[in-house]
Amino acid sequence: VSLRSEAASKYKQMVSAASAAGYSIGASSGYRSYATQEYTYNYWVKVNGSTAAADAVSAHAGFSEHQTGLAVEVKTGNCSLDRFTDTPEYYWIRDHAHEYGFIERYKVGYTNITGFSPEAWHYRYIGTSISNDMKSRGINTLEQYYGTPAAPSY
Ligand code: DAL
Repeated sequence: VSLRSEAASKYKQMVSAASAAGYSIGASSGYRSYATQEYTYNYWVKVNGSTAAADAVSAHAGFSEHQTGLAVEVKTGNCSLDRFTDTPEYYWIRDHAHEYGFIERYKVGYTNITGFSPEAWHYRYIGTSISNDMKSRGINTLEQYYGTPAAPSY
């Protein structure tokens, strides 16, 4: 897994802090090339059975923030994706990510704003000035923070 250097360095600090508190956080996906995102999207078309069902969980190639090197999918042990929500690590990172410049990008209850189903494992590096500002103002999506429209309709 790789990330852009500033995001990688903050990610490592976050993982160390989690570890010091007794939580084990790893990553299952970070930077993705266009080709990898294309592969990922097509994988979800196959698994979910239609492009509409894939569109709820995966961006098309060219539209994923994974392609910026600023998004990371976290996991603990073998618990990734949906299973991550059932772990103590989920609660730790949800409550502390902003201290390291990360936000939970696709929260429960905001699908109509972000365009994607909830992803408790998908963290986006945005820098601490914005992550702390979002936290203190109670803003839950980047779309609301910047006043931008929901994810693209292709
Ligand atoms: N799963 C997220 C939305 C992505 O494909 O970037």
